[in-house]
Amino acid sequence: MRLYKDLAAWWPLLSAPKGYAEEAAIAAETILGGARGPVRRVLELGCGGGNNASHLKARFAMTLTDLSPGMLGVSRALNPECEHEIGDMRTLRFGRTFDAVFVHDAVMYLTREKDLRAAIATAFAHLRPGGVALFVPDDTKETWRATTSNGGHDAPDRALRYLAWSYDPDPADTTTVVAYAFLLREGARTRAVHDRHVLGLFPRATWVRAFEDAGFSLTTSPYLHSSFPPDAGRELYLGLKP
Ligand SMILES: C[S@@+](CC[C@H](N)C(=O)[O-])C[C@H]1O[C@@H](n2cnc3c(N)ncnc32)[C@H](O)[C@@H]1O
Repeated sequence: MRLYKDLAAWWPLLSAPKGYAEEAAIAAETILGGARGPVRRVLELGCGGGNNASHLKARFAMTLTDLSPGMLGVSRALNPECEHEIGDMRTLRFGRTFDAVFVHDAVMYLTREKDLRAAIATAFAHLRPGGVALFVPDDTKETWRATTSNGGHDAPDRALRYLAWSYDPDPADTTTVVAYAFLLREGARTRAVHDRHVLGLFPRATWVRAFEDAGFSLTTSPYLHSSFPPDAGRELYLGLKP
């Protein structure tokens, strides 16, 4: 996926930090409402360019981790006051605990159930008793729909526009595809890049079982974000570590 490698520096023009205020507020309220005791230290797995963290850091001390050095570099520039570490959410072990663990859309890049279970185990391993893990998948098998979307942003010296086309080549497996067409403009010159992302898609029951098997007490709640239709069916998965 070139987006998280040689194109990482273009991330803020694909997805701008200011668009994450509502999502971050929902995440913060859900974490604070579910945890036992005060929440100060929060670990994010798969922080990407740190867009959520740019809002969450006003309320929590954020430790930000991601597989991609380029994306961590983007996040470091946006969130210099936060701790950053390279790490795969399936295997990362800091050897210390946090009050909460947050995993946003990066979880969609886990394409096998065993990887999803490994990430949930990572969250469990990094929580104190009474701490919570909040996972915010884009979709489950029940909510996913084929879509086409477009967008992009301008910087003074360059700009990006994209078309994202989401489809499911094999409805019997646990993956879908998002094909991106990027147009990248620097000054008067443009170039086109095609990027293909394979995402995981699991039934809701797989999510529930994975949290319960990991030792969490799970609560799910509707994810009511103003940009989703009310019947989108998206859910927040909040695991309490006993
Ligand atoms: C869409 S971006 C996340 C954006 C983020 N929600 C934000 O607020 O900026 C997805 C990220 O998931 C990361 N990722 C994918 N698989 C991962 C894994 N196994 N462990 C950690 N990060 C992973 C990618 O490197 C990428 O930075």
